[in-house]
Amino acid sequence: MSLHGRDLISIRDLSREEIEGILAAAKKMIPYAEGTKVLHTLADKLVAMAFFEPSTRTRLSFESAVHRLGGNCITIADASVTSMRKGESLYDTIRMLSSYADAIVIRHPNEGAARLAARASDRPVLNAGDGAGQHPTQTLLDLLTMQEAFDTLSGLRVVLLGDLKFGRTVHSLAHALALFGCEIVLTAPPSLALPDPARRRLEHMGAHIREEADLRRAIRDADVLYVTRIQKERFGDETEYREVAGSYHVDADLLRDAKPRLAVMHPLPRVGEISPEIDETPHAAYFRQAFLAVPVRMALLDAILAGGRKGG
Ligand code: NCD
Repeated sequence: MSLHGRDLISIRDLSREEIEGILAAAKKMIPYAEGTKVLHTLADKLVAMAFFEPSTRTRLSFESAVHRLGGNCITIADASVTSMRKGESLYDTIRMLSSYADAIVIRHPNEGAARLAARASDRPVLNAGDGAGQHPTQTLLDLLTMQEAFDTLSGLRVVLLGDLKFGRTVHSLAHALALFGCEIVLTAPPSLALPDPARRRLEHMGAHIREEADLRRAIRDADVLYVTRIQKERFGDETEYREVAGSYHVDADLLRDAKPRLAVMHPLPRVGEISPEIDETPHAAYFRQAFLAVPVRMALLDAILAGGRKGG
């Protein structure tokens, strides 16, 4: 089924075949994302960035993707300067925005906000993170990073480390890993474990999933170590955050017994989870991961808005 004109709210909106198609298209977009080749498939298109939560990579890589495809953006980067400050509802804001642009990329602190936005908009809506819910476009670039590093996704053993309770990147990624037959190892402080409904959904899919509290042991046979930041902004209570803050740290000593090809990934920003000494080692995949956001978002916008390119 074509992606043309569709919303992307949850990674569950995509089949394995559709994900494979996006990754293949994204690979072809790399030279265009680097600026060595030029494309104009979105030349007549305007994409609205509606960001109601802080963002660096996601918003700028989306904007870069639009511009690299010859399109234009209108941007809300700070909700406090919009009429929502005057009490306007998200529904009204998005409904109006959908008459100003050809697609809307939304990030919002509330889980479910992107789904609501999709109902308000008659243009495609892409979820760039809804609270502790989903972050499907991040998952696509995470998968491309793994596929580049290992030539395949199936059978990879992936450790998901950190805040599995509030981390939307891992909520989306775990589903995709299950789709591709990866082995999922969950390593989290007990209070930040993957919520039961998410865990049950994965088990229902037949996912190979297990918990491993000991990080050193989890890493030993891993192909990918996917590190996440503790989502401080989602804690109701600062003392609860302080109890888990700094409870894991990835440094050279920890990776001593890891496989030589272990890829350390992180959606970023990191706030102390990965020591900078890892940056110059072959394990560090997180900066490449951040770059791959551009070709992935180009491929996605191209498929949704331009309906794919003729002649590839
Ligand atoms: C993540 C997010 O916003 O969920 N960042 C990103 O999009 N690259 C991860 C995070 O903020 O910890």
